[in-house]
Amino acid sequence: MCGIVGYVGGRNAVPVLLQGLKMLEYRGYDSAGVAVFNSKAGEIKVCKTKGRVENLESKLYDSPVAGKIGIGHTRWATHGVPSDENAHPHFSSSEKIAVVHNGIIENYVVIRDFLRGQGYEFVSETDTECVAQLAGYYYSKSGSFLDSVYRVLAKVDGSYALALVCADCPDKIITVKKNCPLIVGLGKGENFLASDMPAILKYTRNTFIMEDNEVAVIEKDSVKVYNKKKEEIQKEVYVVDWTIEAAEKSGYEHFMLKEIYEQPKVVSDNLNRRFKSDGTGIRLDSIKLGKEELEGINQIYIVACGTAYYAGLVGKFLLEKMARIHVNSDVASEFRYKDPLIDEKTLVIVISQSGETADTLEAMRLAKRKGSRVLAVVNVVGSTIAREANDVIYTLAGPEIAVASTKAFSAQVVAMFLLTLHISLERGRLSLEEFREIKAEMELLPSHINTILTSAPNIKHFMEKYIGSKNVFYIGRGLDYVVCREGSLKLKEIAYLHSEPYAAGELKHGPIALIEESTLVIGVATQQNLFAKTMSNIKEVKARGARVLIIAMEGNREIENYADDYIYIPKTHPVLTPLLANIPQQLFAYYMAVGLGNDVDKPRNLAKSVTVE
Ligand code: AGP
Repeated sequence: MCGIVGYVGGRNAVPVLLQGLKMLEYRGYDSAGVAVFNSKAGEIKVCKTKGRVENLESKLYDSPVAGKIGIGHTRWATHGVPSDENAHPHFSSSEKIAVVHNGIIENYVVIRDFLRGQGYEFVSETDTECVAQLAGYYYSKSGSFLDSVYRVLAKVDGSYALALVCADCPDKIITVKKNCPLIVGLGKGENFLASDMPAILKYTRNTFIMEDNEVAVIEKDSVKVYNKKKEEIQKEVYVVDWTIEAAEKSGYEHFMLKEIYEQPKVVSDNLNRRFKSDGTGIRLDSIKLGKEELEGINQIYIVACGTAYYAGLVGKFLLEKMARIHVNSDVASEFRYKDPLIDEKTLVIVISQSGETADTLEAMRLAKRKGSRVLAVVNVVGSTIAREANDVIYTLAGPEIAVASTKAFSAQVVAMFLLTLHISLERGRLSLEEFREIKAEMELLPSHINTILTSAPNIKHFMEKYIGSKNVFYIGRGLDYVVCREGSLKLKEIAYLHSEPYAAGELKHGPIALIEESTLVIGVATQQNLFAKTMSNIKEVKARGARVLIIAMEGNREIENYADDYIYIPKTHPVLTPLLANIPQQLFAYYMAVGLGNDVDKPRNLAKSVTVE
């Protein structure tokens, strides 16, 4: 989704903004631009273009701009096609004020009509231009930059992170947010703002998080923050523990590959952090989820989007199976509009890598309004969901840059394993002996993932064999079906291949009509109790000409009779297989995307963090 970066200081702002925009590319975008105050000319210069940040860079090379204060933006089109005109920053007609914006201004038509009535002309199709024009309108009346911003805020509805510069105030950027992430970075003799930490990580790790309706006035040597009533407030500064290396490719061809290979470490970091050293249970720190609290809960509701939702489905399956508690689940975009049956006896678990996904955030707020307790499983520390939830389990995956989620999924699945173990123990559904048996198996997971990663060359070879596939089906039962759903999503996202996941037993009820000569079917068959059933479904598709690639547990050599190709995952406890079975799927999607020449880390139409509905 859109990205914002801003700089005020002693350096030339342009390289700082470009570097920041490059670090935000992973969020997904289709145009980019900067606005820089040029002190020689005494005016703001805007340079923007459709396409990549490199296009912007070459445009700036041809017509350079320089200045020590500026704002930059990567746009992910919502209102109006990706084009030079619709790219941000947007100017007021007077060119006094330039604005970059993440989010959506819902009442932009009303504002635009009002301003048109005042003689203002609009040059873009965007909702954002109405903010620039409205700020310009108020500025022409009051001559105060800050007052104009406050007056704009009183008029606009929707979600926004905004950064504004004014040609008459060449020493400051004003920034404000509502329902969109925004952070301020503090340096020495220079200050920054950004929608996401990687944009400014190269320059500072001292930051504070802007809350809704706060307005910050950022100058070279000071940052002042005001509340809605224009009273100055103090912000708590915290030091980010991410390093710039964590947000770089470190020799890998793509972030996605790097993140796939980081999974053994991510899993072991989580296990080290969460298992009590005396082997008696799970460490949840300050989260109160003991026997007493669990007695007050009659259902769990898991809510998330996309990959995070599939991690949630692993949790649903395991919590029901092992903790014997009723678990409901929904994608957040459905949950938030269905008047869900939840109350103070419901524990709502929201899962989000970014902690900023608009639907998940609103679902969480709804759950809180209905009196439910919300436990968030989040990766990004200090994100909005993490801050607003009643309790947080951080997934410790480090920055995930590739749009396609890999290591964050694994970390979320591990969090679900750990929560299940904890709740099962507390509810008396799991003996200490069984717990220790699963714990021992879990401790082997990092090395099992490493073993699977060594099969990458085989998986690359499968890609070469199956690259011409137009339709791919993923079939499995039980937990394997959940794995299929994630595998199919990954293939769609980055290989742009049509693929469908099916519960294997459902094939005969319709989808099998789609199977024809050479259709690729990926069968996931790690669940021993369902193995024979899944195999009969595999035989059915084979009999109709499908080519079959099977992911199964080591030792199940029977698959070799039915599969064209197969991948074994190391033997593990049956409840732990989703984590392992998913790794070959990640590699398969990755190699398919590379083989098809796609932009793996920044797939078309997608954004890393979906901060609008
Ligand atoms: C995963 O590959 C996707 N990019 C997407 O489905 C993602 O998981 C979803 O948008 C949820 O994001 P979140 O975890 O940041 O809330």
